[in-house]
Amino acid sequence: MSLDHAHVQTRLVHAGSPALTQGAGPVNVPVVRTSTVRFADTATQAALNQQRAAGDRVATYGRHGLDTHQALEEAVALLEGGYRTVLAPSGLAAITLVLLATLAPGDHALVADSVYSPVRKVDKSLLARYGIEVEYFSPGQDALEPLIRPSTRLLYLESPSSLLFEVLDLPALAATARRHGLWVAADNTWSGGLYYQPLALGAHISIQAATKYLAGHSDVMMGVVTVDSAELAQRIGATYDALGLSVGADDAYLTLRGLRTLDVRLARHQVNALAVAQYLATHPDVSRVFHPALPDDPGHALWRRDFSGASGLVSFAFDHPDPTAASRFIDALQYFSIGASWGGYESLALEAGPQRLAEHSLWKQVPGQQSVVRLHIGLENPQDLIGDLERAFSSTREALRRSA
Ligand SMILES: Cc1ncc(COP(=O)(O)O)c(C=O)c1O
Repeated sequence: MSLDHAHVQTRLVHAGSPALTQGAGPVNVPVVRTSTVRFADTATQAALNQQRAAGDRVATYGRHGLDTHQALEEAVALLEGGYRTVLAPSGLAAITLVLLATLAPGDHALVADSVYSPVRKVDKSLLARYGIEVEYFSPGQDALEPLIRPSTRLLYLESPSSLLFEVLDLPALAATARRHGLWVAADNTWSGGLYYQPLALGAHISIQAATKYLAGHSDVMMGVVTVDSAELAQRIGATYDALGLSVGADDAYLTLRGLRTLDVRLARHQVNALAVAQYLATHPDVSRVFHPALPDDPGHALWRRDFSGASGLVSFAFDHPDPTAASRFIDALQYFSIGASWGGYESLALEAGPQRLAEHSLWKQVPGQQSVVRLHIGLENPQDLIGDLERAFSSTREALRRSA
């Protein structure tokens, strides 16, 4: 089946579907688990080993993943518009894989200060020990060009950013980086790959925590790395093999199953989140809402230019100086679970702690710096969610009044 000219919804449904080699077969590619890969003869084994070493997508051992993995890889590569996708055991493992594959001792990397915070742990606990220097910059305020050194190899960013959803001008940043021969890698988890195409906008590498929207049901840990060239596929593949990474076939199956319904789920997340963002924007207890689909969000024009939709994430700052406002509010919610991660069908609430916010240069420009709540808006009825938020605002106000 050719999907070359198909719309994205059709691609999501059919990409990686099993061929009917026996004339009949299942809709879904089965879960193919293995440790050992068997070969018909030693000559075939040698030839396949050689192909893998040259960078081909060939499985010569269970770690490389067989049919289920390959079907998911093909579907994500098609979604991201890439040359090849590699699976990783988590989103953070996917990020680490990219950093290790593109950087060597003595190299310098420029990283947007608004990225998923644990990237800094990779930097401090791993890259620094191997003599790789990471410099954080403000993608909204600092000019990129003067920061590039002869040793700079990588520009790494995330748009919209974690927690405050700052939209970056990826085409401009990538064009500057490419002029200086840097690799450009973008974390594309926010859009699920459906509403944003970093590779088409100038990145060489698009990364997703498939744990979120691709798997979509809060039951899988998975990362995906999609690259735009055979050269990068070879580099990433070699680092993957050296690290001994592997992903279970059951998790690949669940992620592919999630991906089939990505379009309908994200459409509903988007509508529900916009309803909540609009409600929050008019609420007297809220000083600021962070969601790029709101027309007065500073990133709205860039979002309209580069994105075709929005996710279910919304953050807001309280219009109250008490630092306990966020935790009191979250504890009063009923339909929102409390927890990290996001991208499943359910609504979640998380306090964005001051330490993590302080990493973002955007936060330093927000007056007052009150406590912030990050919401992931799920597939519940939005009126129920808004009712829940309204009750939590009332009870927080009352609790703060009593403790004043
Ligand atoms: C933007 C972003 N990237 C990467 C990750 C890491 O993904 P995982 O939890 O699968 O390691 C997360 C997790 O919250 C995330 O929000």
